[in-house]
Amino acid sequence: MPIQDLNHIHKNIQIWYKKEGRLSLPWRNTSDPYAIYISEVMLQQTQVKTVLERYYFPFLAKFPTLKILAESPLDDVLKMWEGLGYYNRAKNLHKTATLIETLPSSIDALIALPGIGKNTAHALATFAFGQAVPIMEANVKRIICRIYTLTSPNDTLLWQKASMLLDTHSPFEYNQAMMDIGATLCKPKNPLCDLCPLVSICQGKEDPTRYPTKKKRIVPQREYHMMLYAYDDSLALSQRTGKFLHGLWGFESVEVPLCASSYIGEVSHAYTHFKLRCKVYVYEESVPSQERYFSLAQIKEIAISKVDEKIVKLFLGTISL
Ligand code: ADE
Repeated sequence: MPIQDLNHIHKNIQIWYKKEGRLSLPWRNTSDPYAIYISEVMLQQTQVKTVLERYYFPFLAKFPTLKILAESPLDDVLKMWEGLGYYNRAKNLHKTATLIETLPSSIDALIALPGIGKNTAHALATFAFGQAVPIMEANVKRIICRIYTLTSPNDTLLWQKASMLLDTHSPFEYNQAMMDIGATLCKPKNPLCDLCPLVSICQGKEDPTRYPTKKKRIVPQREYHMMLYAYDDSLALSQRTGKFLHGLWGFESVEVPLCASSYIGEVSHAYTHFKLRCKVYVYEESVPSQERYFSLAQIKEIAISKVDEKIVKLFLGTISL
């Protein structure tokens, strides 16, 4: 692409960003690398709205610095992460806090930290440390695919194209703008090409939804029988030790429910790679048989997964009948 065209596009993007960009997002108005780091990790798999409304401020209020995060119990970190999903992110944040005193600015040093991949390292390098490097967030990827009519590009090609397109004079605004353009104009369906500051160089604008090709994912279903042991207005929960939802508290799944238990209904929850369907049974105990029981008020204080939260709700529905 001729350099004049690129300069023109960069100017258009800057003008668009000043007028239409999400300028007030709090992580765009701080120079604290730690706060930017927290936002980028939260935003890895979660929408801006959710992070903004429920997680970013409470997390920073409870853990305002890396040092305080490192000194806090993992259980407290998981509690603040409750409902956000992908709990490894919280565990990696905590682990990182115990490894370093301040965030490094070099991309290589950032990638060496737990839970920081190439995109997050680049996002931190540009947003926290002002470096002229591109980012490859999902929305940006879609824009690149459309500009260059790429249907299923590999990472090397994507990063190469992203580097060519980067505005090295204003990388902060450029990278933030690219995400906003992807989120508000270059949408997966019905993109608003007429309003896009990149329209003049976009080779895919005639048929944008062809780029990139959507992969059809078959989501397997897993079925579980969940046993709730109820004793004296309390429920038994244990802390998960396996790979899935490690560290969170939850109910036990069993091969065969106890025959003296009562079936109270079903809950389901969709994860990225599978769908969970849980049939829920309650066993009213006259003598406690499990290790730990929690009153309903205590359950609110510990970190539990979305599925277990749905199970508690189902249980509450049955006892309030
Ligand atoms: N997703 C990842 N990083 C982001 C940012 N800085 N602003 C908005 N969405 C994002």
